[in-house]
Amino acid sequence: MHAQSSRPSSNQPHLHPKLAATVRRHLGARSRKPVAPHNVAACKVLLAELAARPRPLVLDSFCGTGHSTAALARRHPGHLVVGIDKSGHRLDRHPADPAGHYLLLRAECGDLWRLLVEEGVGVDHHYLLYPNPWPKAKHLQRRVHGGAGFYWLLQLAAGRRPGAGAPSRIELRSNWQTYVEEFGVAMHLAGFPGSVARVPPGPADLSLFEHKYRASGHELWSYTGRASPAAP
Ligand SMILES: C[S@@+](CC[C@H](N)C(=O)[O-])C[C@H]1O[C@@H](n2cnc3c(N)ncnc32)[C@H](O)[C@@H]1O
Repeated sequence: MHAQSSRPSSNQPHLHPKLAATVRRHLGARSRKPVAPHNVAACKVLLAELAARPRPLVLDSFCGTGHSTAALARRHPGHLVVGIDKSGHRLDRHPADPAGHYLLLRAECGDLWRLLVEEGVGVDHHYLLYPNPWPKAKHLQRRVHGGAGFYWLLQLAAGRRPGAGAPSRIELRSNWQTYVEEFGVAMHLAGFPGSVARVPPGPADLSLFEHKYRASGHELWSYTGRASPAAP
């Protein structure tokens, strides 16, 4: 049973006025910050799994406890489904997967996205479920579309692996409508037009935060889009 969750409260009533300028700046200049060794190690684990059993990839970025990763592995049985979260504490709360149907990695998403791009690995489906909203206006740069990692997210979606079958598809969900609208505009600016809509009630919640927000009566929003050949 989850405690009631409060809705994101923001001093930003609409899209951030610096959204377009911030997105354009990141699209024009990729970060060359060194990648932390534990992220390199996590990428090696992923690459070794792909080498041992080659199959197309699904990412569950910001996976938290990885409950969504297990659900997505059931949804995509022919794929390698990988959950990524920087919090070992959250990942440790995941029940064991003796069958090894999916992989959970402790890593920073931005670094891992960049390493996969540099390794030439593509992703068929990329889920970003309920990333931290950072609702204060001064924290735009901490949102997925406001930070340097956005460049690598786009590169990863555009560089899908030849022969992998399904086209790259990105889905982001949040209980803060403005966040999803901002993400949709940022994706549009980058050449990934998609759609923003309410998440319909399903037979089961996809993640623990989805469950908590639904149980608290929040509206849930999603962006879904596919890479276009020209992007980004
Ligand atoms: C609000 S929780 C959502 C968890 C899960 N997706 C869900 O819906 O239940 C956000 C998660 O993002 C993780 N996180 C935040 N920034 C991250 C980053 N840069 N790289 C990896 N994980 C990150 C946090 O540790 C946290 O588990």
